[in-house]
Amino acid sequence: VIIAMFITVIGMTTVAYGLHPPRHVETIEPSRVFSDSRFSKVGQPVEMADGTIEVQMVGLMFAFAPAEVRVPAGRPIRFRLTSTDVTHGFLIAGTNANTMLVPGYISQFTTVFDKPGDYLIVCHEFCGNGHHVMSGRLIVEEPK
Ligand code: CUA
Repeated sequence: VIIAMFITVIGMTTVAYGLHPPRHVETIEPSRVFSDSRFSKVGQPVEMADGTIEVQMVGLMFAFAPAEVRVPAGRPIRFRLTSTDVTHGFLIAGTNANTMLVPGYISQFTTVFDKPGDYLIVCHEFCGNGHHVMSGRLIVEEPK
């Protein structure tokens, strides 16, 4: 009965809240992230031809680069994320954005923020002494 309950809850959150593991697999050399062309726009969201906005962010002990990101509400936002050192978490509180930043891999997912506001980004994988101070800020602005 408990197993059936778990499966039901997973099924419901998948459909109702869009919660599912990201499917993207792409590798990167962790020591060269900041000289890699795929992370040449850290801190400057890029508008793609299809209207998606790409946000590149890097997790490192014990911060996110950049510490603050601004994106418009109601538009698809594609996050491209990686780590230069150890495994970090990436959770945008109050949204379905939740993944891990694993050194050697690029995590990618696309989501839409419907509600403008100030969102806290937290690292939710224990990554060392400064884990508890590792946070960032996502500002979702009214669409222009
Ligand atoms: Cu980074 Cu915990």
